[in-house]
Amino acid sequence: MCGIVGYIGSKNCIPIIIEGLKRLEYRGYDSAGIGFIENNSCRVIKNKGKVSLLEKKVAEGVYSPSVGLGHTRWATHGEPNEINAHPHYNADKSLMIIHNGIIENYQTLKTILINAGYEFKSQTDSEVLAHLIDSFLKKGNELFKAVRLALAEVEGTYGLAILYDKEPDKIIVAKKGSPLVIGVGDDENYIASDVSALIAYTSRVVYIEDGEVAEVFRDGFNAKTILDEDINKEIHKISMSLEEIDRGGYETFMLKEIMEQPESVLNSMRGRLLFDEGTVKLGGIQNLAERLAKTKRIIITACGTSWHAGLVGEYMFEQFLRIPTEVEYASEFRYRNPILQPDDAIFFISQSGETADSLAALKEAKRKGALVLGICNVVGSSIARESEAGVYIHAGPEIGVASTKAFTSQLVVLALITLLIARKKDMSLIDGQKIVEEFQAIPEKIKTILKLNSQIEEIASKFRDAKNFLYLGRGYNFPVALEGALKLKEISYIHAEGYPAAEMKHGPIALVDENMPVVFIAPKDSTYDKIVSNIEEIRARKGRIIAIASESDNHIDNLADFTIKIPDTIRMLMPILTVIPLQLLAYHIAMKKGLNVDQPRNLAKSVTVE
Ligand code: G6P
Repeated sequence: MCGIVGYIGSKNCIPIIIEGLKRLEYRGYDSAGIGFIENNSCRVIKNKGKVSLLEKKVAEGVYSPSVGLGHTRWATHGEPNEINAHPHYNADKSLMIIHNGIIENYQTLKTILINAGYEFKSQTDSEVLAHLIDSFLKKGNELFKAVRLALAEVEGTYGLAILYDKEPDKIIVAKKGSPLVIGVGDDENYIASDVSALIAYTSRVVYIEDGEVAEVFRDGFNAKTILDEDINKEIHKISMSLEEIDRGGYETFMLKEIMEQPESVLNSMRGRLLFDEGTVKLGGIQNLAERLAKTKRIIITACGTSWHAGLVGEYMFEQFLRIPTEVEYASEFRYRNPILQPDDAIFFISQSGETADSLAALKEAKRKGALVLGICNVVGSSIARESEAGVYIHAGPEIGVASTKAFTSQLVVLALITLLIARKKDMSLIDGQKIVEEFQAIPEKIKTILKLNSQIEEIASKFRDAKNFLYLGRGYNFPVALEGALKLKEISYIHAEGYPAAEMKHGPIALVDENMPVVFIAPKDSTYDKIVSNIEEIRARKGRIIAIASESDNHIDNLADFTIKIPDTIRMLMPILTVIPLQLLAYHIAMKKGLNVDQPRNLAKSVTVE
């Protein structure tokens, strides 16, 4: 999510780090910082906002350090501001750390450290690492060992880089879950969270693996596992172009983001599932859970793909909470003089947190005194700030204009909210635990679906010249039909409509002939038999059927022209799985038409005008 870059050698590290940060800025851009050692003491310069602002701030002083670190932040804990920007110091400013990832047990560690006399300056989870490492240095350990001992106590993910003024000729790096590479030069070395930050200087890299820690010197490096075992690291030669590297080796950002979903969905749940209690922990709304359980009505307001996530949320809330739920287009809600009661709760879902209609609707709801809650991806965005409380989806920066990984993370968060409130109402511990288990299994199931990529590409090749598409689903999969159609429209410019499967008899069926592709979302659930009847109806009119079906379903192969088989889960979580083949189908059709899927015509990633 965030970007890390560092240098140790004989040159002035500042321009190298600033350049590296600019290269990484596309993946996190709410604040930036640089830290270095000069004359045996640490110095940190940081600010809210762009790397270009940091560059100006650094230029106000005269420095030429030969070892330093830089960070560009995509906030997860604590709003984007100067204090929360990295690097973070220990108490006497002899040590600084920069961190990508999420420390899941940071609250526990923070309490222990506060009891031991440590003071925290920021709201970040990352700052605990600076104090925790400091506590092991105070026990007489040298830095490399202190870092290993500290990390043995940490749960969560990290790409970590550390400087210490008492051992000024090394950078320590560590990795678990967040990428980290060493760039090998001649009597100089680089570190980065992404090879794109160092490819301008060297093409020789060493990939640090999970559970490994390395000390990087000017003339070499030494790697160990956290458990102090020696390891030999291989140097790899990079042959990718810069552009390819930005996209993680994928052809487009959209494909990268589709493929990232096992990880982004996991990040949305990370540290939030409580199996023993059969519930979840959602810091942002935890203290409102009782109040939400008593809510008489929930309204969900959003635009675009986020609105589709809201529709799935409606099914979740009504099934498990038995609270009447309405889903509103933000633009309609705000101009309709909506009727709001004091015990209504309104959720605003927005990836960017900046969509003008959603923001204006939120302000209107606030004026009317409703409880206003945000579900956003961008931390510290306008909707996140204006909401009374909320839950971040932690999907990481989404660059492709057509939303993919943000949608699945929005669904995860809506399901987490459902479980939190349901357990305050009448859901049993056993039922809660079953749902937690289903959550845990989702990332692996997504991986299974992503393996169907070439099968889906093959299907897509048959439909590149289609003029229309119908997407049909029932229940939880009706909003998925809408989302599948939207994805196709957005990037392939093929006219597509999503409908509740039964409703197609009331109009769209008139369009069906041998040229009409119809996508059925038909997993084996309580509506399966009904949807099979709908498939028969389309077959009878010679429509070309693509079915998204359960792995165990052999019958459907006889009915559909193409079937895409996916794993099962509980109904509430099924849309997280069923939407993925539809993202890939839209993607490949658009690519086969030679279109720019990352920047489709006429669309914008963040619609900040009405
Ligand atoms: C634009 C984007 C869509 C997005 C919608 C709502 O139309 O192209 O992908 O779903 O805005 O954006 P938000 O950031 O509020 O989720």
